[in-house]
Amino acid sequence: MKTTRLVVDNDVNKTQVYTQAVEKLKSGEVVAFPTETVYGLGAIATNELAVAKIFEAKGRPSDNPLIVHVGESQHILKYVSEISKKAENCIDAFWPGPLTLILHAKPNVFAPNVTAGLSTVGLRMPDHPVALELLKMLGEPVAAPSANLSGKPSPTTALHVEKDLQGRIPLILDGGATGIGVESTVVDFTVDPPVILRPGGVTAQMLSAVIGEVIEPNTTTVDDATVPRAPGMKYAHYAPDAPVYLIESNLDAVDLAIQSIHTQNQKVALLAPNELKNDQADWFFSLGDQQNPEESAHHLYAHLRACDDTAADIILVTLPLKTGVGAAIFNRLEKAADGNWWHS
Ligand code: TXA
Ligand code: MG
Repeated sequence: MKTTRLVVDNDVNKTQVYTQAVEKLKSGEVVAFPTETVYGLGAIATNELAVAKIFEAKGRPSDNPLIVHVGESQHILKYVSEISKKAENCIDAFWPGPLTLILHAKPNVFAPNVTAGLSTVGLRMPDHPVALELLKMLGEPVAAPSANLSGKPSPTTALHVEKDLQGRIPLILDGGATGIGVESTVVDFTVDPPVILRPGGVTAQMLSAVIGEVIEPNTTTVDDATVPRAPGMKYAHYAPDAPVYLIESNLDAVDLAIQSIHTQNQKVALLAPNELKNDQADWFFSLGDQQNPEESAHHLYAHLRACDDTAADIILVTLPLKTGVGAAIFNRLEKAADGNWWHS
């Protein structure tokens, strides 16, 4: 299959680009498009065969449900059987934006493979002009996971999508680099107090300001059977080719680790804020200013991907601050590292 990448900026005939994308989706094909978090790979959420193509293109396990994207927030009762006051308040406060709400799905609305057979569905309205225009013109809900090969870091540029899915999908809408850089916050509103299943751009503090108590499972105890688990958590995620190790944010610890890796004749890539730059590292990727997690989030996946273009044997990543969107960065890094910490 030939993969076409169409740029949607001010210099092109946008109507023609959107029309092509809408026609592809209506004919049961998949289309990659930008959102404010990461690029998504979309199919019409009521078309089971189209949705199956998402799983096939990504190599995604079928028991990992997809997020459904909508272009407006007024008619949500077309999709869900009930909605709590807290969920409504969060939609008012955060849509369009990086918040996915898990709600009770109305039976027989979505294709069964969208929800992986669950009675609940994840819904979000993305805050990106290209995604919103596409959803508006299409007039249908779009199921879309991140547009990467399963297990790889999520794509924050159309070129990342092209690298992973070239020849596997027909069309990529190229709207430039995404803003936030990590996926939406997923919150389960079928329980009270609501539970954060995946931290993201809408932080726990932001949610609490609107709805009071929210449960934030401690990411380091995900093996505890009492902790609610997001489907798909058991699979490898965000993983570059070389193994990732988390290391404490400390100049001496990083220095010692690099020395010890070099003693083994291995090469090391370091992902760290500017404050922890180390000239001995064979490659250094800056996560920006340590006090600015938004900047780190914006660069995180591009840097993890860039490690695949180096000859690094080991990737060291310093521990981010866990405040604000830092919680989401920490969560993704723990998965990228598969729980591995560097001990010199
Ligand atoms: O920012 C985002 O959310 C991006 C963009 C494209 O919108 N999408 C995204 O989708 O990250 P994906 O498939 O990579 O992550 C979806 C995750 C699933 O792995 C699962 O953990 C959770 O959302 N999820 C979806 N439906 C669910 C459900 N019914 N119950 C619990 N968790 C669900
Ligand atoms: Mg994903």
